[in-house]
Amino acid sequence: MARRKKIYEGKAKILYEGPEPGTFVQYFKDDATAYNAEKRDVIEGKGVLNNRLSEFFMTGLNHIGVPTHFLKRINMREQLIRSVEIIPLEVIVRNFAAGTISKRLGLEEGTALPRPIVEFCYKDDALGDPLVSEEHIIAFGWASQQDMDDMVALALRVNDYMSGLMYGVGIKLVDFKIEIGRVWEGDYQRLIIADEISPDSCRLWDIETGQKLDKDVFRRDLGNLTDAYTEVARRLGVMPANATHMPKPTLIN
Ligand SMILES: Nc1ncnc2c1ncn2[C@@H]1O[C@H](COP(=O)(O)OP(=O)(O)OP(=O)(O)O)[C@@H](O)[C@H]1O
Ligand SMILES: [Mg+2]
Repeated sequence: MARRKKIYEGKAKILYEGPEPGTFVQYFKDDATAYNAEKRDVIEGKGVLNNRLSEFFMTGLNHIGVPTHFLKRINMREQLIRSVEIIPLEVIVRNFAAGTISKRLGLEEGTALPRPIVEFCYKDDALGDPLVSEEHIIAFGWASQQDMDDMVALALRVNDYMSGLMYGVGIKLVDFKIEIGRVWEGDYQRLIIADEISPDSCRLWDIETGQKLDKDVFRRDLGNLTDAYTEVARRLGVMPANATHMPKPTLIN
């Protein structure tokens, strides 16, 4: 049997060649990294949870007309996606101050921002994904003015969808990061949401207690990361509380 071709192995996921042209298989690993991979660990069950949660969010987005790369889930750790030309930017939307914006601007974590703020970081691990302005993005040709407008519109729609969804289960969407890619349809290009949407890429705080239910649990050593992600999945009805591991085969008489 031919071994399938690995396209790219990143810190949290592996991309394999898909069954048809224009598709990839995205495999979710259990590896967790933070602070530009200075801190790393293997968190059992994280990949399974992120695969399911990203499927859940992207299916919902597809249904409300926000295009994503998600096609279908294949198994516990893999999903079929459309291959895109990734725009080399991390698009961040912030509703409340936390993380780097708190440090940069001296804002206390949790401060409500006057409106959702969209930021762009240039995807370059060696440089530590630096914050860049629209001027940089256009001048260096990473995206066009039209792309910028489309990216902001997409990011704000994802924000409204995700904020509402989370609010419904008692969770505050503090901020999140998405990646966006280009697909070609005949002579036309379109931007769609790619990569993943999961507690690895969002800040999620319990509305009542302020408890963190996202990757900050790992970054800041606040407890068990799988428990936090399982709680998000449980509240959303995505998977039962104990389903993070493969069920053992059972004997059928
Ligand atoms: N639909 C897609 N088509 C092509 N590439 C994609 C798609 N979705 C995600 N990617 C890319 O696949 C990789 C996913 O792997 P992972 O998130 O582990 O990478 P990473 O270690 O974060 O590194 P980096 O994002 O800096 O490349 C990322 O490079 C991401 O940009
Ligand atoms: Mg990544």
